[in-house]
Amino acid sequence: MSQNAAPLTFEVTRRQDLRPDAEREAVLASPGFGTTFTDHMALATWTPGEGWHDARIRAYGPLSLMPSAAVLHYAQEIFEGLKAYRHEDGSVWSFRPEVNAARFARSACRLALPELPEGDFTGSIKALVEVDRDWVPAAGGEASLYLRPFMFASESFLGVRPAAEVTYGVIASPAGAYFKGGLRPVSIWVSEEYVRAAPGGTGAAKCGGNYAASLAAQEEASAHGCDQVVFLDGLERRWVEELGGMNLFFVFRDGRVLTPELNGSILEGVTRLSIIELAKEFGYDVAEARVSIEQWREGAASGEIAEVFACGTAAVVTPVGRLVWDGGEVTVGGGEVGEATARIRQALLDIQHGRTPDTHGWMTRLV
Ligand code: COI
Repeated sequence: MSQNAAPLTFEVTRRQDLRPDAEREAVLASPGFGTTFTDHMALATWTPGEGWHDARIRAYGPLSLMPSAAVLHYAQEIFEGLKAYRHEDGSVWSFRPEVNAARFARSACRLALPELPEGDFTGSIKALVEVDRDWVPAAGGEASLYLRPFMFASESFLGVRPAAEVTYGVIASPAGAYFKGGLRPVSIWVSEEYVRAAPGGTGAAKCGGNYAASLAAQEEASAHGCDQVVFLDGLERRWVEELGGMNLFFVFRDGRVLTPELNGSILEGVTRLSIIELAKEFGYDVAEARVSIEQWREGAASGEIAEVFACGTAAVVTPVGRLVWDGGEVTVGGGEVGEATARIRQALLDIQHGRTPDTHGWMTRLV
């Protein structure tokens, strides 16, 4: 949909009531995931007549929406997830934001939302991180500032059609480990009742509806003592797709590395894409292919599948230690963090946190 000719300028209004330093430092010392937000947020508005306009940075706080806002009824909404990392010299960087921007544009297209140009996407995160730079955790650890760009139908209208007023925003939240307990192998429940996405649906788009559709299955996973749910394909209910919000990788004893191939209903993860490249460089025989749930169960039991890990911006690289289904379970990789998992995880974190040269040109300086 609409492209603006000139890049947006995010006008900054700094709040006077900044969170006290001691309070911010306490959050940064133990950030958790997704609970505390920085002092500001970015916002912009789109209408068919004006395109993107009114780009601004202002105090983080409630949005004013009519109860009739279309997003509340028809879920016309998309989002992204990326992080800002502080490097040893104090500078702040982001990992492949142009790939997130491109996916955001594809998601917008699928949800009939207006496209936000890549320069405005990166411009918005730069503007926000510039103002809230003190919220980026210190270098040296694994913590970062999680950035959540989002776009939704803010028009007050109950007819079912693409909204004629859309709001774009970015909020930011200091982030440590996504799973409680830090880095540890997680357990996965196989959802046999629910699917996350179907051919022709919105599975490849990063839209809230996909995550809403995963929640009942996630509840089922929790009820069975598992950390996450894995979804199978919607047609045959046989092929492994992804977790509730993460892609999957399988490491075989013979050095093969497989990740479920993109089929239109799997999210094209930025971390997934980067791991494919890194694993190839490490000499693994990497393929994007179909992996069946039987192959996972039997391969984990026989040891042919030596390691399984989940990946995503929030989860980074998280080992899987147990697969559970209705009537059985199997330990994966001895329930330990595997060698390939640990190596790939460390390599990725070292690039992101600036501890190793960025030979791929993946990092973009924000501040
Ligand atoms: C991310 O990894 O950024 C996501 O959006 C997934 C969600 C589970 C937090």
